[in-house]
Amino acid sequence: MTPVTDLPLNGHAYRDFNAPLSDTKAYDLITTLQPLAGATVVDYGCGWAELLLRAVEQEPTARGVGVDSDDYAIIRGRRNVEARGLASYVRLDLADVTTWEAEPADVVISIGASHAWGRTKDTLEAMRTRLRPGGTLLLGDGFWERPPSPKSVEIFGEAGFGTLPELVDLAMTCGYRLLSLTTATQDEWDSFESRGYAARERWLLEHPDDPRADEVRATVDDRREGWLKGYRGELGFAYLTLAHI
Ligand SMILES: C[S@@+](CC[C@H](N)C(=O)[O-])C[C@H]1O[C@@H](n2cnc3c(N)ncnc32)[C@H](O)[C@@H]1O
Repeated sequence: MTPVTDLPLNGHAYRDFNAPLSDTKAYDLITTLQPLAGATVVDYGCGWAELLLRAVEQEPTARGVGVDSDDYAIIRGRRNVEARGLASYVRLDLADVTTWEAEPADVVISIGASHAWGRTKDTLEAMRTRLRPGGTLLLGDGFWERPPSPKSVEIFGEAGFGTLPELVDLAMTCGYRLLSLTTATQDEWDSFESRGYAARERWLLEHPDDPRADEVRATVDDRREGWLKGYRGELGFAYLTLAHI
């Protein structure tokens, strides 16, 4: 993990993925997308596209395109594309996914980006039109492991997520079959959250007199409270590998 220290203070510097995901699970998820040989893979809301880059590294005949509207993420991703010698295989576009257009792909990815389309159902529908018949969608989305506490509802809203069976049923009703299902472990969640706080805490240690310090400290405190007194152990994150039927 190489911290990106020269980019904005957004809490991502120590994160490999902008989702609760370990290296091992990333490898396994890519395996669920096989066969990837010669495939076009489009990642909608790719962030800095770490999973997409690993997919192309795992299957060098695949071609990847990532789209995200966050310039920090695209700059970071493009640096990694160059540094890892992937420029002939991966392209990252700075764009709004909802207006970005491409031919239907063999594989599409949407991890943690359902809000771009509205809700999960909107994402499943949008991804289906962007996938060739018989193609594969990797969806990463939230669900409630346990009924949400008032604090969690305050953060995520009343009707943001369903249960895991409801998420799978929703995918079925949108024209998919389930090929693989896995969920983020507590360790993956804790690592994801901790890395987000660590980036800001380390910055605070190095910049105690910066005029933004009070605001940054308040943000960390607020988010940590929301996590530890709210959604930790309640909010789950599922990875569904889905076949377009
Ligand atoms: C939680 S992050 C996940 C990033 C990445 N999929 C990953 O797992 O590391 C969600 C991403 O969706 C992107 N996003 C949200 N709405 C978008 C939109 N309308 N167009 C493009 N990207 C969008 C955000 O900029 C962010 O990078």
